Amino acid sequence: MKRILLIVGGGIAAYKTCELIRLLRGRGHAVRCVLTEGGSHFVTPMTLAALSEQPVHTSLWDLKDEAEMGHIQLSRQADLVVVAPATADLMARMAAGLAGDLATTLLLATDKPVLVAPAMNVRMWTHPATVRNVARLRADGIAVMDPDEGAMACGEYGPGRLPEPVAILAAIEAALGIGDRSLAGRHVLVTAGPTHEPIDPVRYLANRSSGRQGFAIARALAAIGARVTLIAGPVALPTPAGVDRIDVQTAREMADAVVGAMPADAAVMVAAVADWHVAPLDQKLKKAGTPPALTLIENPDILAHLSVGADRPRLVIGFAAETERVIDHAIAKRLRKGCDWIVANDVSGDVMGGADNSVHLVTASGVETWERMAKEAVAIRLARRIADELQERP
Ligand code: CTP
Repeated sequence: MKRILLIVGGGIAAYKTCELIRLLRGRGHAVRCVLTEGGSHFVTPMTLAALSEQPVHTSLWDLKDEAEMGHIQLSRQADLVVVAPATADLMARMAAGLAGDLATTLLLATDKPVLVAPAMNVRMWTHPATVRNVARLRADGIAVMDPDEGAMACGEYGPGRLPEPVAILAAIEAALGIGDRSLAGRHVLVTAGPTHEPIDPVRYLANRSSGRQGFAIARALAAIGARVTLIAGPVALPTPAGVDRIDVQTAREMADAVVGAMPADAAVMVAAVADWHVAPLDQKLKKAGTPPALTLIENPDILAHLSVGADRPRLVIGFAAETERVIDHAIAKRLRKGCDWIVANDVSGDVMGGADNSVHLVTASGVETWERMAKEAVAIRLARRIADELQERP
């Protein structure tokens, strides 16, 4: 059991800290909450007190608290101080070393590690002032999580959403050195993103995959101790911490990289591999009156080859992006590809490029339907399932 001091800042995402407290309590940790003035506009002290079963602290000038414990003691009796959601304003004050309220006073007085989960509008997150403050905080030894990317309460889109409570929980346990390391010593291969199949020096065939689900899975696997090789098609995503990344363009390059990355204990083939390529032209294709005809040549099926190859990992997982009869297609695909599991997702909505995913896990023993959740949450749940499966069949 660890003691967490949770500082709840003023943002619409403050409601998610209720779920975070529930998760922390479920893991046996004690949580003590400090609610900022801004935070109190989004959640009430009563809610936090009921969930944490501890008094909630709101004011620096609460003399009763000062007499009974004092803010120095409050900041030091915890094993970890967590700020969630951390607003741009709160991070700016932390970076400047200000101590005008209870939250910033505790943060300045603490001698314990501090983990910050930011949440704000995308322009505020990318503003040079915030970028500067985050760099300052990280240089000061504070762990600042990257916010999630997606649709925001304000209607804009981009990085700035509070990381999912399960991701904050994982970061908390990692910071406390008690995280799940159940994939330590295992090598897991992940493919992610689209492939680009050149037509000529300036054009290519591609698809809408953003790579986000695959990158989230690579991050989640590494977070529980796996050595992860991530083979990525062309995407604009940063490499998750602790992951070895190999960038490729085409399906054939991806196939070669997969063979080169063997052996592995498990493979998670999330990439939306192009099914076809064309024989690329050396020079740019010019308009010549009649529309050109492209002859499509089938690409190697990387997943199917891996599933029957001599180097087959013990656990091979494919993805199936479907727009109709999702489960039927996934059951057939599992058998056709020869893999152990298929993670099937319905891409008829805004899944491709979106932040959430709604998946079914198809295995030899049946179909599990997971509730719609953030791609990060899907990744964490899948990583745990992989760890359980590898433990069961060593
Ligand atoms: N895949 C692969 N190599 C390919 C095509 C697909 O490794 N050339 C993998 C994907 O990474 C994914 C799974 O196979 O894990 C599903 O691919 P998909 O293209 O949906 O399956 P297909 O067999 O092409 O079925 P269909 O296009 O008919 O849905």
